Amino acid sequence: MTVKIPKKIGHRGAAGHAPENTLAGIRKAADLGACWVEFDVMLSQDGIPILMHDNTLNRTTNGKGPISAQTLNVLRTLDAGSWFNERFAGEPIPTLAETLRLAEMLGLGCNVEIKPSPETSEETAKAVIEVVNSFQRPFSIIMSSFSETVIEMLHTYLFDTPRGLLVNKIPEDWRSKLQKWDCFSLHCNHKHLSQEQAKTIKSANYHLLCYTVNEPESAASLFNWGVDAIFSDYPDRV
Ligand code: G3P
Ligand code: MG
Repeated sequence: MTVKIPKKIGHRGAAGHAPENTLAGIRKAADLGACWVEFDVMLSQDGIPILMHDNTLNRTTNGKGPISAQTLNVLRTLDAGSWFNERFAGEPIPTLAETLRLAEMLGLGCNVEIKPSPETSEETAKAVIEVVNSFQRPFSIIMSSFSETVIEMLHTYLFDTPRGLLVNKIPEDWRSKLQKWDCFSLHCNHKHLSQEQAKTIKSANYHLLCYTVNEPESAASLFNWGVDAIFSDYPDRV
């Protein structure tokens, strides 16, 4: 269970240049020279994994209300591009399956971040695992989530695919959690990471990934600390 990751990963596609979590954003990341992309996945009301960061449609589409209240058919009618720029008008919300197909075609590695609502952690993990399993491996992929229930499910049902535990601040018990779920990596908010923590995590032989790093100076010091990769909205900048 290992995978080779590059130093920079396009965040939500290339969220600084194109609407986040859309196929246009994935293509943009590839155009900018990113070899990997990260994106967020949640479930439609009828259980289909789609790309979306927020729980509601309000910020990144022309719809309103919770994602979990809408079927895929309804979600497909929405515009997920205009809020970012009129050039992207009509850009749809993609499914996970479509996104992985595009990434495979473009030769991009993927960090699939599973973002369930608390009541749907297991259901979301199962649906995502089913889609990921429908793809041929080796396909460069890391699964991650803030949800420990999801990480536990990935450990049980998708054991051979690398897992990353996603946290904001690194918890005291990070080591036992990474061991318990046999994680490949720890993904943390770079704002809360210290050089000492980076050193300890690297000495424990885990990959360390940081989000969201948009300034070249921050990227350079994180790499100096031994951080393996950063997620950036501007993968061309860092
Ligand atoms: O996966 C890294 C990062 O995307 C986690 O935070 O809120 O941007 O999904 P968020
Ligand atoms: Mg994310």
